[in-house]
Amino acid sequence: MNLILLGPPGAGKGTQAKMLIDRFGIPQISTGDMLRAAVAAGTELGLKAKACMDSGALVPDEVVIGIVGERLAQADCDKGFILDGFPRTVAQADALKQTLGQLGKSLDAVISLEVDTEALVERLTGRRTCRACGQGFHVRFDPPAKEGVCDACGGELYQRDDDREETIRKRLDVYQEQTSPLIEYYQQEGLLAAIDGMQDISVVQEDILATLREAR
Ligand code: AP5
Ligand code: MG
Ligand code: ZN
Repeated sequence: MNLILLGPPGAGKGTQAKMLIDRFGIPQISTGDMLRAAVAAGTELGLKAKACMDSGALVPDEVVIGIVGERLAQADCDKGFILDGFPRTVAQADALKQTLGQLGKSLDAVISLEVDTEALVERLTGRRTCRACGQGFHVRFDPPAKEGVCDACGGELYQRDDDREETIRKRLDVYQEQTSPLIEYYQQEGLLAAIDGMQDISVVQEDILATLREAR
């Protein structure tokens, strides 16, 4: 199962990807997580990416295209993969098509999660993430059993640097301008499945699973 999760910041891409990993045993490829790991490790890539991420802008296409290309060639992607947060521009989508062609792979489905703008802001301002395992929570919609502590591993929960309201608005504008054209792009490829992302987390998951059953 080769899958893209498409949607604005806060749509639930990471939340749904984590549930799909458990079910299908295929990796999540989140460019945001990979870039944050590079920032935390202080690598050259991290230094390049940090200023863009903090301002809510996109990291240059050639940077992310390179890291995704390397990642998709790894053996654990042979049974499938879940792309989360990539592609985000038409140039990235074109590059992905080329990379997959070279690897003899193709996409099975592109899931587009649709959520109202005000709900996105509320989700992102209340999001908390585990520093150790990356599990996501929400102070109201998906709270951990104990405040500040991850249910899955006991790790410390933190708030992302780009989850301040001003940066969130910028990220949403960038999505509209640069990423939303991909909805039409994948519609034309016959791969797009739109899903109502305003529903409960478990209902969204059920809808995704139903769509994947049809796609196979
Ligand atoms: P990235 O990390 O990809 O961030 P994003 O796209 O802005 O998306 P988020 O991770 O914020 O949202 P999500 O859809 O994963 O939502 P989540 O499941 O956490 O990218 C960050 C930055 O990196 C970019 O701004 C850019 O600078 C750079 N970057 C990354 N990829 C790039 C690329 N390809 N090209 C260039 N630059 C790139 O859910 C959010 C919250 O809502 C959680 O608290 C969750 O618990 C809650 N929630 C989820 N679902 C529901 C529901 N159904 N109901 C109620 N609450 C819910
Ligand atoms: Mg995410
Ligand atoms: Zn954890």
